[in-house]
Amino acid sequence: MRPAQPQVSTPLRGDGGLEADITRALAATANTRGVFGATWEYFDEIGSTNDAALRAAERGVAEGHVFIAGAQTAGRGRLGRTWHSPPEAGLYVSTIIRRSALAPWITLAGGVAVAQGIRESTGLPVQLKWPNDVVAVTGTAFQSRRKLAGILAEASSGADAIQYIVLGFGINLRQSALPPELEGRAGSLEGELGRPVDGGVVLAAALAALHRVTEQVTASGPAALLAEWRRLSPSAEGGRVEWDASSGTRTGVTAGIDADGALRVMTPEGLERIVSGEVRWK
Ligand code: BTN
Repeated sequence: MRPAQPQVSTPLRGDGGLEADITRALAATANTRGVFGATWEYFDEIGSTNDAALRAAERGVAEGHVFIAGAQTAGRGRLGRTWHSPPEAGLYVSTIIRRSALAPWITLAGGVAVAQGIRESTGLPVQLKWPNDVVAVTGTAFQSRRKLAGILAEASSGADAIQYIVLGFGINLRQSALPPELEGRAGSLEGELGRPVDGGVVLAAALAALHRVTEQVTASGPAALLAEWRRLSPSAEGGRVEWDASSGTRTGVTAGIDADGALRVMTPEGLERIVSGEVRWK
């Protein structure tokens, strides 16, 4: 295993595998991605690409610099969970964003970008599960969804403003990314498609989508992002859900997201607005 030495923009190794796929795909798509992936580093193995990006952001590294790892030893997910990150089984990616106006929207924007990137690069009609899990759905059964990708956004705040955001995403490329306990609940692009997938092409498409989505929000506000998120998330309307509240398990029927991206749920007690945490589809 090569030590975790960064290779900026022009990695030297040419012996195939994920790094070679990424090198090829990013070189071919530079004019579609804006700042995202204009410079990048690949690590055979790292603790967490989000941690690397947070440290780099603190040092002043520019917006759009991308950290990619072949494996993570301390990959983390939302709600304090572990993100299983075995070698070359998934895409483990983080980038830096310095536009504080994007902060309220970056979670939804990350989900839309990764979903669009997967759809465009593989043809797989993935959907979003609130707030930003990327899932494969069989038929109309929301509960039979397999999670293919997840997004973790972390921000650093100054006295009165967000200083930077790190947007991390993990995409399961191969079934070997999945621990046995996630059997049935998680899937991979290759498992869904039944064929090999070029991780570099998926990454390039996701970064291009992130560029489009963030430019759109920066220029015109979140309306188009919210509309696209709703289009990609049919389960956010009319899905029977439950979630854990301090009063115990609550149930209801989803009623879309509001203008702030909160999930609305109609319950026997009235309309609830869920801003964080996890909702389970029944
Ligand atoms: C989730 O819980 O759904 C979010 C998972 C985010 C995983 C990615 S992999 C790259 C980046 N580095 C991390 O440690 N986590 C994110």
